[in-house]
Amino acid sequence: MKSTEIREAFLKFYESKGHQRVASSSLVPGNDPTLLFTNAGMVQFKDVFLGQESRPYKTATSSQRCVRAGGKHNDLENVGYTARHHTFFEMLGNFSFGDYFKREAIKYAWEFLTEVLQLPEEKLWVTVHISDQEAEDIWLKEMGVSAERFSRLDEDNFWQMGDTGPCGPSSEIFYDHGEDVFGGPPGSPNDDGDRYIEIWNLVFMQYERSASGQAELPNPSIDTGMGLERIAAIMQGVHTNYEIDMFQALLQAVAKETGATDMEDKSLRVVADHIRSCAFLIVDGILPGNEGRAYVLRRIMRRAIRHGNKLGASSAFFYKLVATLVKEMGDAYPELVEQQAQIEKIILAEEQQFAKTLENGMAILNAAIDDLQDNVLPGDVVFKLYDTYGFPVDLTNDIARERELVLDMEGYELAMQAQRQRSKGAGSFELDYNQSFKMEGSTEFTGHTDSTAEAKVVALLVEGERVDSVVAGSKAVIVLDRTPFYAEAGGQVGDCGYISSDAARFEATDTTKAGGHHLHHGVVLEGSLSLGDTVTASINSAVRKAIAVNHSATHLLHAALRKVVGEQVAQKGSLVTSERLRFDFSNFEAVTPAQLRAVEEMVNAQVRANVAVSVELTDMESAKQKGAMALFGEKYGDVVRLLSMGEENFSVELCGGTHVERTGDIGLIRIVSESGIASGVRRLEAVTGAQAMALFEQTDAELMTIAATVKGNRDNVVTKVEGLVQTNRQLEKQIQQLQAKLASAAGSDLASEAFEVAGIKILIAKLEGVEAKALRDTIDQLKNKLGKAAIVLAGVNDGKVALAAGVTKAEAKSIKAGDMLRQLATAIGGKGGGKPEMAQGGGGDSAALPAAIDELKVWAQQQLEQ
Ligand code: ALA
Repeated sequence: MKSTEIREAFLKFYESKGHQRVASSSLVPGNDPTLLFTNAGMVQFKDVFLGQESRPYKTATSSQRCVRAGGKHNDLENVGYTARHHTFFEMLGNFSFGDYFKREAIKYAWEFLTEVLQLPEEKLWVTVHISDQEAEDIWLKEMGVSAERFSRLDEDNFWQMGDTGPCGPSSEIFYDHGEDVFGGPPGSPNDDGDRYIEIWNLVFMQYERSASGQAELPNPSIDTGMGLERIAAIMQGVHTNYEIDMFQALLQAVAKETGATDMEDKSLRVVADHIRSCAFLIVDGILPGNEGRAYVLRRIMRRAIRHGNKLGASSAFFYKLVATLVKEMGDAYPELVEQQAQIEKIILAEEQQFAKTLENGMAILNAAIDDLQDNVLPGDVVFKLYDTYGFPVDLTNDIARERELVLDMEGYELAMQAQRQRSKGAGSFELDYNQSFKMEGSTEFTGHTDSTAEAKVVALLVEGERVDSVVAGSKAVIVLDRTPFYAEAGGQVGDCGYISSDAARFEATDTTKAGGHHLHHGVVLEGSLSLGDTVTASINSAVRKAIAVNHSATHLLHAALRKVVGEQVAQKGSLVTSERLRFDFSNFEAVTPAQLRAVEEMVNAQVRANVAVSVELTDMESAKQKGAMALFGEKYGDVVRLLSMGEENFSVELCGGTHVERTGDIGLIRIVSESGIASGVRRLEAVTGAQAMALFEQTDAELMTIAATVKGNRDNVVTKVEGLVQTNRQLEKQIQQLQAKLASAAGSDLASEAFEVAGIKILIAKLEGVEAKALRDTIDQLKNKLGKAAIVLAGVNDGKVALAAGVTKAEAKSIKAGDMLRQLATAIGGKGGGKPEMAQGGGGDSAALPAAIDELKVWAQQQLEQ
């Protein structure tokens, strides 16, 4: 059975049991700061398990793309060394949200394995949590599983998504790959071998773990996960995942691009695995970088590149594998096909960047290894490799492991801490309400249509702690049952305004979201507010209007950029405030001034067209058919808000933000700047409406000031300024020529001021109004005139002193230009230096010059008389 057939059989099976088939979500979890990557099928349903979100179905099935690298479930270091670990894999799963529980979950799984896939029962082994008698009874008594192939385990049979989130005891099903593979059954001392492989994890979701402890979930639920690659290995009669159909072409491609000949080399697997995670992470909007998700991507890429080099690649090879991956997986993931060129570009750029330091880093590492007395690589070496050569620690660890060494991680942490202290202070710490604030239900948002609302106070917080009332003067957070205040999301800042009751007035300066609730942050201005109070919440409408204008302008800008610059432009971030808008997007080259003008003109044409903005609530499928752009990292529920703007649907985006009614409300847009903020990411800043007008007025006023200064007017100011610049250039040239003449004349006079010591002419003198270059020329002339000579000249301009010294070649052995110059420079509070024959410098204290010159003369004389 091919992998794709298994995927389909699974989804069909659960559909036949009434489950809703749900598409894989992005690898970047929507609005979930607690999780690095989507690491299981249940991630897109997290809020449904927690009772914070509801769906029109109570059971679901999916094949979810997952990455396990970094964070709680991190398999990166095992990849390549075991038969079954991957950074990227697909997880088949079935889910029940308060519908069925243990019994059906077990029955379905058993039926799928033994009847649909027809796996022999005696090849399967089952485990349950040590405390779970109920699950044991279902397996042994109802399903008739043999007690000989059954065990109860402790923490291996408890699954949690991360340090916080839903969790529960689990039951796992293992497959026995047979006696000729090393390893013991689950729970035995050798259970980490490859003989018994876990294929399916049935989690009985019962609890929610948070920073403050563990609580029961509203409804016991089911979450299961089966790795597609593992089950494919079984169905295709092979022992390792890397032998399945999906990997064959990739492994061949790795061998071809690196020149490897040994098909058993573990590095082949590492590279084949890593190209999958890297390509899909890029598809989901991540670029290699130095923090968070971006850094994990960089770590995986660099590990792959190093293994490629081990296999024999001597130049960039990794990006070439994208083509094969697209061939293998493009059918199941069309987004991979669409973005092929962009993925290749990003990977190639990283390969080129890393190539520059890889060789040097390896040299440092090899030298350190040669010096080792034991098998511990010192922490400062690990740190230096990381800090200076861009070696992620797990890359160094990977190399160390090949040479049977371990890393001194304590020493590394110390070096890292010292570095942090050097580079910055502790940084500011904000309360993370997403972590600490938990409450049933959600705030009803009325702000798409209304600017005020009657509401009830449902929670009050002071410094993150729940309180019953707040009094005048306190900084607090208010949660209402309904609100017109938009909570910061999708780049749009939160609303500000007032929340008042008969007895109190609260100024909200910002609004954020935690779970489904809007948090109004601010200060109680007068009176006091208590839980249950009825209040009127009113946003500052003028500010909101300005925000809406900028948000709508951002949509038009995004669409125009894609039309002018290309489809590879994808939003990477945005900030929409009442004053301006900022839009970050992926693109390798800077947007040219001509393109910027075209974008600006296109957007303004849409503004002038003054078309009504249309908002439609629809489902994801229809939205996609209408060409909607969905943004990575955003979470979309079953009902999506589709925003169409401009003529012929110029821009179509999914967006929960607040917008103008007609494009004409924007008034005008002006792009203020374009810059690069990271490799492959550009930033545009723009202003709209009144702000854009203000910018025009300011530029205009500046132009008029310039015109007045050059005694011109709007019509001739450019010609006038050009003329002035031209004249200025000519004048500069003339001054230089005159100075040279002056210096030369002064030089002739000066020659007579020289005095002779031990056959060498010494000349130390001051020249008025002569600059550095002319001083040097004069010194050259004087050298010719005087023969053997040591000369120091000081040119005084507006109280500043330029110094130059020169000594003829043979004489520079007895008296050095640099020494003389430094003496003089120090005396006038300046600096300078140079070589024995030529030196220069300067200083500010021209008043000290005459005395300093006299002193230097004495010094030079002594020097030569010695
Ligand atoms: N969420 C469970 C797992 O990842 C099924 O193993």
